[in-house]
Amino acid sequence: MCGIVGFTGRQDAKDFLLDGLFKLEYRGYDSAGVAVEQPKGGIEVIRRVGMVAELARAVKESDIAGKCGIGHTRWATHGAATENNAHPHIDCSGKIAVVHNGIIENYMELREELTAKGHTFRSDTDTEVIAHLIEECYEGDFVEATRKAISKLRGAYGVAAIHADHPGVIVVTRKDSPIVVASSVKGAFVASDTVAIVEHTRDVVYLDDDNIAVLNPDGHIDFIDADGNAVYPEPVHVEWDAEAAGRSGFPDFMLKEIYEQPRVIRDTLADRLVDGKISFPELESVGNLANDIDSVTIIGCGTSYHAGLIARQLIEKWARIPVSVEIASEFRYRNPIITPRTLVIAITQSGETADTLEAIKQSRGNGAKAVAITNVVGSRATRESDAVIYIKANMEVSVAATKSFLAQNAILAVLALYLAQERGAIPQDEVCKLYGEMQAIPSQIEWILHQTNDIKRCAKACYKAHSVMYIGRQFGDVTCKEGALKLKEISYVHAEAYAAGEIKHGPIALIDDTVPVVAIATKSSTYEKVISNIEEVKARGAKVVAVATEGDEHIKRYTDLVMYIPDIPEYFSPITASVPLQLFAREIAVLNGRDVDKPRNLAKSVTVE
Ligand code: M6R
Repeated sequence: MCGIVGFTGRQDAKDFLLDGLFKLEYRGYDSAGVAVEQPKGGIEVIRRVGMVAELARAVKESDIAGKCGIGHTRWATHGAATENNAHPHIDCSGKIAVVHNGIIENYMELREELTAKGHTFRSDTDTEVIAHLIEECYEGDFVEATRKAISKLRGAYGVAAIHADHPGVIVVTRKDSPIVVASSVKGAFVASDTVAIVEHTRDVVYLDDDNIAVLNPDGHIDFIDADGNAVYPEPVHVEWDAEAAGRSGFPDFMLKEIYEQPRVIRDTLADRLVDGKISFPELESVGNLANDIDSVTIIGCGTSYHAGLIARQLIEKWARIPVSVEIASEFRYRNPIITPRTLVIAITQSGETADTLEAIKQSRGNGAKAVAITNVVGSRATRESDAVIYIKANMEVSVAATKSFLAQNAILAVLALYLAQERGAIPQDEVCKLYGEMQAIPSQIEWILHQTNDIKRCAKACYKAHSVMYIGRQFGDVTCKEGALKLKEISYVHAEAYAAGEIKHGPIALIDDTVPVVAIATKSSTYEKVISNIEEVKARGAKVVAVATEGDEHIKRYTDLVMYIPDIPEYFSPITASVPLQLFAREIAVLNGRDVDKPRNLAKSVTVE
């Protein structure tokens, strides 16, 4: 949820630190800070509440300078978003500075022990105990002190620390929280996300749990394990470059990422049909997956959960395997029925969502095979699962998931076809035909991206509403859930998504002329039913905006405004029908003056429960 950066090398550290923090701001953004070793000795810390820009202003106005430093952008968990609670945190001597992502579960007992030993705490955070613990364990060897200190921690952490008596050295460690380190001719870098580093080098090391990296100013990095033995991890070459991390002229990342979707779907679908058969080489290591199972359980949170709801319909329709879809944070506490004959599919863009990771662990503990569908190479989900299928979305910066959602849907549809093929549930020529139908999706999205004037008109008609209702049936029902989530999270307009046939059982009481209704009325087996439901809300005064199929003039009789999508079989319609809803939500957010990429109270990856 928070972001870590650090640099030691031959040039001033603050430029990299600030630039890195700006790039990581999407992970958390209620306060930020840096600690830099000063040329005359000692460490100077600057922290500010608010966005990284506030910190950048303060740093520029200061005379802070030095070639080694660490920085942090925070999303508060323990303690309010105040300057005192912002990272870096320092020990009593002021010589040790620490930044931390994650949660230290035993921080209270550690704090009490350390206080009893005379340490003085200045913040309400769990992080501060790490600085004091290192101080307590320090006997002249900074790395050893850190190693001893972390052995006392319970919970999840990514940590970077500096010590004024060890100039130029950054000690880094992690457990269940991502940390990446890299070296170049300029020096050595650490970050919680590759995006902060990729401009400097594309060869990075994803630190393993419990290992320690020691960064030196000449760029050399030493690695040791929890017992202090040297280890030699292999660097990973990152495929995407700094350009992919920029906005490329778009006003915000969300819009850029929406426009990337045709490319993302093309890449995600590429090379999946080999010699007339759907191919998933990623699954070879887990044996005859399709036939060794009685059921599928799909786990995810937020948008990824919605992708799971769509996948359920496809897997059940084509492969005829019963599927349950579970919100990861609920799944892990309810003792679900998972056996060695359950295939668990964990969907997570970031690969770092704490609840999803725990659900994977639990499922594997019950003997199930877990397949992760993720976007982030080297993320925890990739290490915790039996097999990994990458979506080809490339880095997604905007907090609102857009291109990753479409890519998840695309790959899950192909996976559903694969399961059907392997079980012989549908004829092979039908499998190929369905896969062939998907090839039209990228150009259909391009077509939608040319209809933005209609979408803007719809947004203009709705942006002042205090609440918007989304209705649809079957595939349209899930499309609504995702559309409503997008609207809520970036515009702060309340949105409710309901199966259209269900509204008369309660929610229709909400409807009047102040509550616009977005109806998914694309060509489908339930089209007529949806029209009836539209009539019901119209009769209560609602303004109705429909997502409909290109060429459907009939729909205009029942609705006030229409956003069209090209004709597509209903089982693939969530992929294309989600696009106008993404643009609609973004436009409403813009009209309401929201920060589209950084909605309040949210963070891109939710690494705490
Ligand atoms: O990284 P994950 O896919 O595991 O994240 C799950 C949710 O936090 C995420 O999809 C969230 O709902 C999105 N910000 C919604 O746009």
